[in-house]
Amino acid sequence: MLRTRFTEAFGVEHPIVQGGMQWVGRAELVAAVANAGALGFLTALTQPTPEALAKEIERTCELTDRVFGVNLTILPAINPPPYAEYRQAIVESGVLIVETAGSNPAEHVEVFHRHGIKVIHKATSVRHALKAESLGVDAVSIDGFECAGHPGEDDVPGLVLIPAAADRLSIPLIASGGIGDARGLVAALALGADAVNMGTRFLCTAESPIDERVKRQIVANDERATDLIFRTFRNTARVASNSVSRQVIEIEGRGGTFEDVRDLVAGSRGRGVYEQGDPELGIWSAGQVQGLIHDIPTCDELVTRMVGEARELIATRLAGLVLETQETTQ
Ligand SMILES: Cc1cc2nc3c(=O)[nH]c(=O)nc-3n(C[C@H](O)[C@H](O)[C@H](O)COP(=O)(O)O)c2cc1C
Repeated sequence: MLRTRFTEAFGVEHPIVQGGMQWVGRAELVAAVANAGALGFLTALTQPTPEALAKEIERTCELTDRVFGVNLTILPAINPPPYAEYRQAIVESGVLIVETAGSNPAEHVEVFHRHGIKVIHKATSVRHALKAESLGVDAVSIDGFECAGHPGEDDVPGLVLIPAAADRLSIPLIASGGIGDARGLVAALALGADAVNMGTRFLCTAESPIDERVKRQIVANDERATDLIFRTFRNTARVASNSVSRQVIEIEGRGGTFEDVRDLVAGSRGRGVYEQGDPELGIWSAGQVQGLIHDIPTCDELVTRMVGEARELIATRLAGLVLETQETTQ
């Protein structure tokens, strides 16, 4: 067992989190993560309506009696989803933890706290993490440049970003991006984090509700197999490299606008990747950690292995590196 401020504050057995994942954060995966003793998040906007989200939360409760949460990703949009209604569905469901991501979560934090719900905000910079702390969130996840999804525009990798955040924050800190095994977990703890958040690693587990062929593609991919799209729109996204991502970059390079890539990046095509098992069908999120992923374990095998190997790493390999003064001078 590894006990940290995170495990204590959130009542979770292991300091491991499965972050929100569009089209993937569904009941089967989140319950499997919870049953493995880690903290999983359903992804609110994967459900077409707030009513469907309420049903998905019920379905998760039927599959686990352990704690789990809901991710609410707040993105700027011309026609935004009905956030207040999704939020209300979460409040009424009895869920006790929410992960917010994207824009400033101020109005949501206030409502969630009023109903006794803890909030973890995911940020990509120290200044946004401090802002979230000042809003009263209960923990911050900090996503380094390695991460799948939106790494922000600062391009600071975890090796610098995590300790920089740890130096400034008082609340529990969750390290995110590029973590896939015990070495990443132990490194994150050494850098000052209280837990790790993983997306791509959980995407490639037995219970992840995506086609097996996409999981096999992740195993085949190495650490170079990602692309950064939307850089020119200052809305960078790290995605699995494929013919579609390369086409988007090529159009951006020619000065193309979002309109020019809109069809290529359509959410329905990305969803099709997972459902039809064709990794070339559209844009799908994956991180550099693909290079460390060599199998498709169950969530229980993954979490048990990570925690066991982390213990071993700390107690044997790292402890074995420490020489007492007397030994050194002999
Ligand atoms: C397939 C996929 C979909 C994702 N969708 C979301 C999302 O909807 N909202 C969100 O906050 N983060 C999303 N993320 C980011 C993850 O929650 C997490 O922050 C990130 O994957 C961490 O980096 P890693 O993949 O290197 O572990 C997604 C990640 C993946 C792999």
